[in-house]
Amino acid sequence: MTANPFDLTGRVAMVSGAASGMGQAMSLAVAEAGADVVLVDINPEGAQITAQQITQLGRKAVVVDCDVSDSEQITSLFEELDQQFGRIDFLGNVAGQGVLASPTELTLAQLQRVLQQLVIGRFFMCQQAGLRMLSQGRGSIVNIGSLASTTALGRSHIAYSMAMGAVVQMTRELSTEWSASGVRVNAILPAQVTNPGLLKRMEADPNLQQQFLSGIPAGRMGKPADIKGLSVLLASDASSWITGALIPMDGGNTAMNAGGTPGHRPPA
Ligand SMILES: NC(=O)c1ccc[n+]([C@@H]2O[C@H](COP(=O)([O-])OP(=O)(O)OC[C@H]3O[C@@H](n4cnc5c(N)ncnc54)[C@H](O)[C@@H]3O)[C@@H](O)[C@H]2O)c1
Repeated sequence: MTANPFDLTGRVAMVSGAASGMGQAMSLAVAEAGADVVLVDINPEGAQITAQQITQLGRKAVVVDCDVSDSEQITSLFEELDQQFGRIDFLGNVAGQGVLASPTELTLAQLQRVLQQLVIGRFFMCQQAGLRMLSQGRGSIVNIGSLASTTALGRSHIAYSMAMGAVVQMTRELSTEWSASGVRVNAILPAQVTNPGLLKRMEADPNLQQQFLSGIPAGRMGKPADIKGLSVLLASDASSWITGALIPMDGGNTAMNAGGTPGHRPPA
């Protein structure tokens, strides 16, 4: 019988942002494919709900309450991983938030917080996972970027875009340094995927959803489960020659060069 290249049985995955949204969907996807999962979030109660679903699949799930902007907490997280599993095969770097502030109003403290979370924290997660994967001679890392990694959004997203741009360059550099040693590093760049924060912003601005949809030829917003297939592909041997890739998950937005805010003109 031919081996299933998507099978993750016996693999250990770690996913940040595992309590909700795309991090939760990614955690469930790799568990459904056979992996045990370390669930990382600042909302451990939410992550426990993800853990219960994974346990019901017959896989092991360990919840770690960890803020990915804090390097000491990340160090403890990997100590816990070493104790519980002694290896890591897949890291999904999903957690991390921006701040909405115009270029003239953004404070340096706000910018530093965003860069700490999305760039420095994620780099440290990659470094900790990478050290272990390099010594194993195998591993896969996925960083979540955004349309803001490659196009400007406007709408006071300056800090987020600066950080997400750095995330794709980090992905390319790590892939270039590590892929000869068996460690692949890729990025998924989603367009608008519904989450509680986005739903609130769309409620406050009734035109916003229509504006987003005008840049999505597939005709609907993303949903967290849209990340499941790509997650299994990138975590598994099915993608063994895919590294350094920036993969749009955007209902066709990038192909039509629509960007994150189609038709937007900044106020004069
Ligand atoms: N939703 C979108 O439209 C979209 C598009 C492109 C990129 N992204 C990016 O994808 C990632 C996930 O987005 P989502 O929509 O699934 O978000 P979400 O709000 O549904 O979930 C985020 C999760 O991360 C956790 N979290 C937040 N800060 C954390 C921290 N410092 N340490 C650990 N956990 C933390 C939250 O508790 C939550 O469980 C984010 O980085 C986001 O910027 C989102």
